[in-house]
Amino acid sequence: MKDQPVSPQPRDIDGNPVTPGLPMAMLAEITHRCPLACPYCSNPLELVRAQGEMPAEDWARVFRQAADLGVLQVHVSGGEPGVRRDLAQIVEAARDAGLYVNLITSGIGITRERLEELDRAGVDHVQLSLQGIRPDMADRISGHPGSWDKKMGFAAWVAEIGFPLTINAVVHRQNMERLPDMIDLAETLGARRIEVATVQFHGWADLNRKALMPTREQAAFARAVVNESRLRLRGRMVIDYVPADHHAIYPKACMGGWGSTGLNVSPDGTVLPCHAAPSIKWMRFENVRERSLSDIWHLSESFNAFRGTEWMPEPCRSCERKTVDFGGCRCQAMALAGDARATDPVCSKSPLHAGLVAQAEEDATGDTAEFIYRRIRK
Ligand code: SF4
Ligand code: FES
Repeated sequence: MKDQPVSPQPRDIDGNPVTPGLPMAMLAEITHRCPLACPYCSNPLELVRAQGEMPAEDWARVFRQAADLGVLQVHVSGGEPGVRRDLAQIVEAARDAGLYVNLITSGIGITRERLEELDRAGVDHVQLSLQGIRPDMADRISGHPGSWDKKMGFAAWVAEIGFPLTINAVVHRQNMERLPDMIDLAETLGARRIEVATVQFHGWADLNRKALMPTREQAAFARAVVNESRLRLRGRMVIDYVPADHHAIYPKACMGGWGSTGLNVSPDGTVLPCHAAPSIKWMRFENVRERSLSDIWHLSESFNAFRGTEWMPEPCRSCERKTVDFGGCRCQAMALAGDARATDPVCSKSPLHAGLVAQAEEDATGDTAEFIYRRIRK
């Protein structure tokens, strides 16, 4: 582990100060508790327990600070936000702060009556996760028997109440071939949008690389399905797509650039530039119970660490794409290169790229289908 100094003032490679923009969206992870146990969960390996969660009054203060900072939209998420009995109170506080409220849910554990209550409290939009296309597949991947039936019932209520719906489908080696059916199902459920996200190998997903890594052929298949479906469904349903970047030439601009458009607040109030940031062990994260969201956004070491371009090493430093993809994903660089400042090894210009591709090919041919499910670790 390296103890690396971070610049309190972000600068470009010419040494000019860089002023951060303002966040538009905030992810409010109000709990890590969840009835599902997806093996690619984006929550950290060390989950916050119920007793560590911020109460609704604290969330109300955070939402007001977020709105003052420029945030327009809050994604109320988890874990499963429905496990919090005060969810409606939290939603109401977000609505009262003037935020557009997107509820991200597994659909498990929220009754029709509660969904109506959430409608009155101010939920503007619902995002429902989909693990598979059949009961056996969905239940096995989510680690929750009966999840499929509950989800389908929940989706029907969403349509009856009239919420706009987005389906979120994480795809990987064990369900990617059913992507056309997932898109059809989203359309049948009345979704206006589907997010097709190839699994990102941080945290829990990284533990499950050999069970989840798609093959190169699957990645190409998914890209073709998305392209064809976008044409076919134009004007009816939007398809957002996160491709399999282990098979790409250039990395994605993760989070649209570190500390540029969004921020995450963990159940205990820790404020993160992205969900996987705690994997950067030398980085210190601040808590909104101790410092204002505005100060954390503008002044904290964690948010300023990878703003601007001064921090970049070669080959990013002299690359024409440095303000396009910002050197890729910092957490992926941490996981794959052991250094959060390194060029994301997904990039073909990284000296580690060839090894990464070889490892991905090997993982994709792994014969294991067994998952390590997400759980609170002792
Ligand atoms: Fe992006 Fe860096 Fe690769 Fe250039 S060298 S494409 S900036 S990751
Ligand atoms: Fe943290 Fe990409 S997940 S920067």
